[in-house]
Amino acid sequence: MNEVIKTILNHRSLRHFEDKPLTDEQIKTIVTSAQAAATSSFIQAYSIIGVKDKEKKKKLAEIAGNQEYVEKNGHFFVFCADLYRHTIIGEKEQKDVTPSIESTEKFMVALIDASLAAQNAAIAAESLGLGICYIGGIRNNLEEVKKLLKTPERVIPLFGLAVGVPTKLTDKKPRLPYEHVYHEDEYQQNSEVYLSQLQKYDELISSYYEERTNGKRKDRWTDQIATMLDRKSRMYMKEFVQKNKLNLK
Ligand SMILES: Cc1cc2nc3c(=O)[nH]c(=O)nc-3n(C[C@H](O)[C@H](O)[C@H](O)COP(=O)(O)O)c2cc1C
Repeated sequence: MNEVIKTILNHRSLRHFEDKPLTDEQIKTIVTSAQAAATSSFIQAYSIIGVKDKEKKKKLAEIAGNQEYVEKNGHFFVFCADLYRHTIIGEKEQKDVTPSIESTEKFMVALIDASLAAQNAAIAAESLGLGICYIGGIRNNLEEVKKLLKTPERVIPLFGLAVGVPTKLTDKKPRLPYEHVYHEDEYQQNSEVYLSQLQKYDELISSYYEERTNGKRKDRWTDQIATMLDRKSRMYMKEFVQKNKLNLK
């Protein structure tokens, strides 16, 4: 197995880091790796904001529901969907780009671009021996995040990426069965097959938790996910995105 695949397969989210800032060189390697990702029609519809300011990191940690590792890490990146520069380009080139920029399609393009770039960044960091944890918790209050990071209209902060030298390793979390995720030629939706695969996976996840918590926790994956989905969260998002003049048509 080559080193790239080994790095990818060795992924786990890490949440304890040394108090050791990333070097400028490490930051540059991670960001240029992010930028090397493929991008829809070459649009490059994302931005990355590195947060070094201690007060800002503290505030972001609070917004994210007091997640300590948002504050205590080697570097904190915020990945944003970004169609601001494209608005400026439209003005510069005197073209009516607004209807396109405000479409759901272009919003999706920006989300996809930002996510592909982020995953490149994550793998680059992991390949340098660093640990990473994505932080969707910043979406608890994007108005505050926006003010803190001074993002203009048509820029939506999506998630953070905490990176640092790990002090505590965690175990890898088993994923869904291969055949449950990978379909050939057509989507397999035989519900009996579906449910039996999920049952096997539930057993696997349940024993994963049981082993790691000395029997204190043994939740099934389907229960975990249904419980999570049973609660509405961040329902302000559509309004927030539209207020920022994206996803309007
Ligand atoms: C977009 C995104 C947002 C996430 N947000 C958080 C977060 O706010 N806090 C956290 O501790 N983990 C967060 N995670 C990490 C997931 O919980 C983790 O990837 C998942 O449980 C699988 O575990 P693993 O990454 O160790 O394999 C996030 C992951 C992604 C992809």
